[in-house]
Amino acid sequence: MQTSETIHPDKGELQAAAKRDWRIGAIQSVRSEQGVYLFRGENASIMLQPVNENVVRVKLLLDHALALKTTIAVQQEAFAAVDARLEETPEQYKLVLSAITVVVHKSDARIDFYNAGGELISSEEELYRAGRGEYGVRKSMELHSHIYGLGEKTSFLDKKGEKYDMWNSDVFDPHVPEIECLYVSIPFLIHFRYDQPAYGIFLDNPGRSSFDMRSDGTSYKIQINSGTLDYYFVYGPELKDVVQRYSGLTGRMELPPAWAIGYHQSRYSYMDQEEVMTLAGSFREKNIPCDVIYLDIHYMDEYRVFTFDPVRFPNPKKMIGELAEMGIKIVPIVDPGVKKDPEYAPYVEGTKNDYFCRKLEGEVFIGNVWPGASAFPDFTEEQVRSWWGEQHRYYTELGIHGIWNDMNEPAVFNASKTMDLDVVHGNDGDMKTHRELHNLYGMLMSMATQQGLKRQLEGERPFVLTRAGYAGIQKYAATWTGDNRSFWEHLAMAIPMVLNLGLSGQPFAGPDIGGFAHHTTPELLARWTQAGVFFPYCRNHSVLESIRQEPWAFDPNVEDVCRKYIRLRYRLLPYLYTQFYEAHKTGLPIMRPLILEYPGDRNVFNLCDQFLVGTSLLVAPIVRPSTEYRAVYLPQGEWIDYWTGERHAGGRTILAHAPIDVLPLYVKAGSIVPELAEDRWKPILNEQANVALSMYAGAPGTASSGRWYEDDARTYAYENGVYNLLETTAAFNEDKLSLQLAYRSKGLDSARKLLQLQVKSMNFAPRAVSCGQTSLEEAGGSWSYDEQHRELRLQVPNTFEELELVVKG
Ligand code: GLC
Repeated sequence: MQTSETIHPDKGELQAAAKRDWRIGAIQSVRSEQGVYLFRGENASIMLQPVNENVVRVKLLLDHALALKTTIAVQQEAFAAVDARLEETPEQYKLVLSAITVVVHKSDARIDFYNAGGELISSEEELYRAGRGEYGVRKSMELHSHIYGLGEKTSFLDKKGEKYDMWNSDVFDPHVPEIECLYVSIPFLIHFRYDQPAYGIFLDNPGRSSFDMRSDGTSYKIQINSGTLDYYFVYGPELKDVVQRYSGLTGRMELPPAWAIGYHQSRYSYMDQEEVMTLAGSFREKNIPCDVIYLDIHYMDEYRVFTFDPVRFPNPKKMIGELAEMGIKIVPIVDPGVKKDPEYAPYVEGTKNDYFCRKLEGEVFIGNVWPGASAFPDFTEEQVRSWWGEQHRYYTELGIHGIWNDMNEPAVFNASKTMDLDVVHGNDGDMKTHRELHNLYGMLMSMATQQGLKRQLEGERPFVLTRAGYAGIQKYAATWTGDNRSFWEHLAMAIPMVLNLGLSGQPFAGPDIGGFAHHTTPELLARWTQAGVFFPYCRNHSVLESIRQEPWAFDPNVEDVCRKYIRLRYRLLPYLYTQFYEAHKTGLPIMRPLILEYPGDRNVFNLCDQFLVGTSLLVAPIVRPSTEYRAVYLPQGEWIDYWTGERHAGGRTILAHAPIDVLPLYVKAGSIVPELAEDRWKPILNEQANVALSMYAGAPGTASSGRWYEDDARTYAYENGVYNLLETTAAFNEDKLSLQLAYRSKGLDSARKLLQLQVKSMNFAPRAVSCGQTSLEEAGGSWSYDEQHRELRLQVPNTFEELELVVKG
């Protein structure tokens, strides 16, 4: 008997059937034009576009029409001329590149990727439709797969077993593992298996998307909610290759000005000019380095961007000038919401010129944020970005070089917490809804800010900090991880969060040190500062009405700990700055998970309570209260305790003793680390700085090496070769040490007459040091030996391009 339900199946069932039934269908024909290959299926086409030998773009074309345009995340220079060949078998098409082969199955349009050795790297199980505008791909995942990247997410390093959404969101609720979206969305996933080639998938879709590594143990799913399914397969084989190639595709960070990698102090808010000056004075008085003080929203005149409150800050120019004399920069906050006020120039100008986001029907979108009702610039338009950038003359004319972009998800105080999804963005002639472009909004704001500042600063490097971002954000701004809390768990979580941001192309990131919301404690501040000084971005920030958390807010012991570690950051700035240079050049992160450097080590695939800075420093912070001991895993090699000089064999776990003033810190034997030769409070990373190369040699018979990069620390002259890059290698034997120094670039006219080297833990007492055919002394240098510390100090005339020194025992 037929029931009414079988005759009239309900809507849900019909939808489910429609979902199941949609398929690309069998491939009917193939054509190639403009360097791309179009595989025409029954219901849609697949476009394959080789970007280079290792990267292929895959795009679903529902209307079969060729569409090459990418979002702004992708660098157009990344597209190279690629030698590709199309082969056909009865069942498959094969697009053969020198490093990878893409197989398209004729029967159902599934796509598999092989490497040149014929190994299957990734296989696709299905490409499906989940609902209106929702398409996804399911790709194979194994029991032993590990997943990294995915930008700014909570939880641990390995993302297998997690599910995330990409939708830039202002999350004031405590950041916990089940939160699926935060402020930054980078839809880039790295798939890793031991002993097998790694690869990445970059989904270039700035609308909402989801990455599900949880629902099914043998596959992961990437699904879009609007726009086009458009992704890039990024081949390894090493993890490092994947990260480098991805950053080649989405761009690499510029070098920030050196002051931006110093210590930063913030609070919501330093309320007036006097408070700011007192704060700056305290840093100097207490001998605690600080390069930047932030002005949070109270500096403005009723939260109007591009203004100063005339009562709280009667003379910003004077204040900024006085701070500059002290070596301190001001970075003010700038939010995207422009107060709706017919007597306020940016609102009037933006309205007259039609710069604000509108609905299709014409109405300007007005949302409530700090200033109350506000309009939001349409940053998808070049003209609006340029106007917004120009507004920053207000700041640069006061002597400001850095801007803090906040609330740029955009956050709005309404039920959906953001802009209405039916707002339409001009997008330079290619109109799209906010639903389709949401995740780009913050990045475009930072781009506008950076470009404006660059125009105004005439060759000086600006600094932009942003809360929201999308793939490629590293080109425009540093990111901080938003409104964390003064919870120990948040100190612990900041590590994997920033590690994965680094694997997702954003090397310049860090959390609010001490925690933003809630109230920090003396112990938490001490431990967080210890760890925080090793994050690429280093800022202490706290919320309105929270307990004070400047380094001296508690007892002298906490202050001493903070001072010691902030000074340590400054001491290591030459090393850190060199890591920024490496990140700028290669896209590899500054702060690295151990798996990146030791991809064969089965102990480290999810290790994220310790990390590396570059390759030489291993940091193992205490992330729990009342804890003086912790296990530290040392990977292969030999590791030297930074504090005691004690040597530990790697490949095992040791127990570190870490009373409150000790951060477990190890240097990899064989490293040559550039450090400031003196403990000073001010960063001077130019030719004036007294830098020493510290050599932490391994056992006799082993080699050491290190690089040291320096430039003028503030301009773009480095882009024209005005920098020095010194490579040092050393070979240690029973009673002989040979050192090779070679400038790979010596474009910076350095005033430094002598170069200093210190060799730690010598295994013999030196008798003579020669430099080419003569003694070091005859060559104008000198040396001394500290027997107690077994440390050899060398001063070498800095007139060489290449030099060999031999130390004999
Ligand atoms: C947001 C920011 C925070 C800032 C506050 C006031 O919550 O994330 O850093 O202090 O707004 O501007």
